[in-house]
Amino acid sequence: MKHHLECIGCGAHYSQSEILYACKSCGDLLEVRYESLRDSIDTSLWKARPISVWRYEELLPLDSASMKVSLGEGGTSLHRSIRLAESLGLKRLHVKNEGENPTGSFKDRGMTVGVSKAVEIGAEKVVCASTGNTSASLAAYAAKAGLECIVLIPSEKVALGKLAQAVIYGARVLQIEGSFDDALRAVVELAQSKTSFYLLNSINPYRLEGQKTLAYEVWDQLGGRVPDTIIVPVGNAGNISAIWKGFQELNQLGLISNLPKMIGIQAEGASPIAEAFRKGLSRIDPVTNPETVATAIRIGSPASWKKALRAVRGSKGLMETVTDEEILEAQKLLARLEGIFVEPASASSIAGLKKLVEVGAVSREEEVMCVATGHGLKDPEVAERACEKPITVGADQNSIKRALGLNG
Ligand code: F0G
Repeated sequence: MKHHLECIGCGAHYSQSEILYACKSCGDLLEVRYESLRDSIDTSLWKARPISVWRYEELLPLDSASMKVSLGEGGTSLHRSIRLAESLGLKRLHVKNEGENPTGSFKDRGMTVGVSKAVEIGAEKVVCASTGNTSASLAAYAAKAGLECIVLIPSEKVALGKLAQAVIYGARVLQIEGSFDDALRAVVELAQSKTSFYLLNSINPYRLEGQKTLAYEVWDQLGGRVPDTIIVPVGNAGNISAIWKGFQELNQLGLISNLPKMIGIQAEGASPIAEAFRKGLSRIDPVTNPETVATAIRIGSPASWKKALRAVRGSKGLMETVTDEEILEAQKLLARLEGIFVEPASASSIAGLKKLVEVGAVSREEEVMCVATGHGLKDPEVAERACEKPITVGADQNSIKRALGLNG
């Protein structure tokens, strides 16, 4: 659909033909805005397509003739989580399992749109900085499109599964001596000096357009309504901003009359946005040495903090923190009560929900949806460490029965 880029700080407009990652006049973040949103949508077109990112292509910023680089992203299950709801003291709880995406995380929603955009503008190389999932996803979509892919990751603490994905898909992987925040700074500089490198971190507003489709899907999967409360793990803060944009657009289209409350969860050791929210500040104070078992969200200086604070405050939601211990406990709880295995960062939404129900900030009556952002097999080592070890026994019946505590 016809669109332009708009600065969220000073409101400057830019044409869609400009390749920009920040406002040229004030340096703030950009977002995609559609002209005449309401007039141009015919939802009967959507019904004829499967639930997926591209079901909503009229609300995505690509030329209709563009080649779509797709691996079958979106259309993830919305699980009614009855046993988990009961254990937390809630009536209605849903878990949106983004681990079902082609590379095992929600990043694929953004990358199908972002890499399609890269092809549309004729880019030859795509780049990103990543704590792991963004690099895995970009590498896969770049492979599909036949583009060169370069990823910068922090030298420590990238989960094994994610690194394996990036290398097998053929990306050039540079381990940066430093944190994710250092890697992001470096890649932004690189993309600014080499315009043939198309940057696909979440400061690229086109990528977030793909991620907003999670909101549309939830609306569709619930038969045309939305939950009261949405809980999202927050790292670099692109996803919560994108999901909020999706709900706002549904509202602008007249498809919903109410908007959900957005709740963002950060790990205690990497929580500058939650800290700013708690103190009522309008800016964040970056964390210099972020630390958490949830390596995906081990970020001290989130790029989209301003969009995230707007989402949370604009929706009358909140930000909360959880400890590593709470994250690991929630990971186990979700696996054992619902059969959904997520990586630690994803479990932070469940850990946050548990805490908020306990203190009464989320009530029993609210219909809640937690976003499970990435698959548990991304980071098997953490899960294995957190659980009881298997015991070794002889293959004979006696040994097995003894180990199981069975008599005779
Ligand atoms: N959950 C998972 C599994 C993630 O990989 C990320 C971010 C988040 C939550 C947070 O999302 O950054 O939009 O607030 N991972 C990025 C990466 C930073 O490089 O893979 P966010």
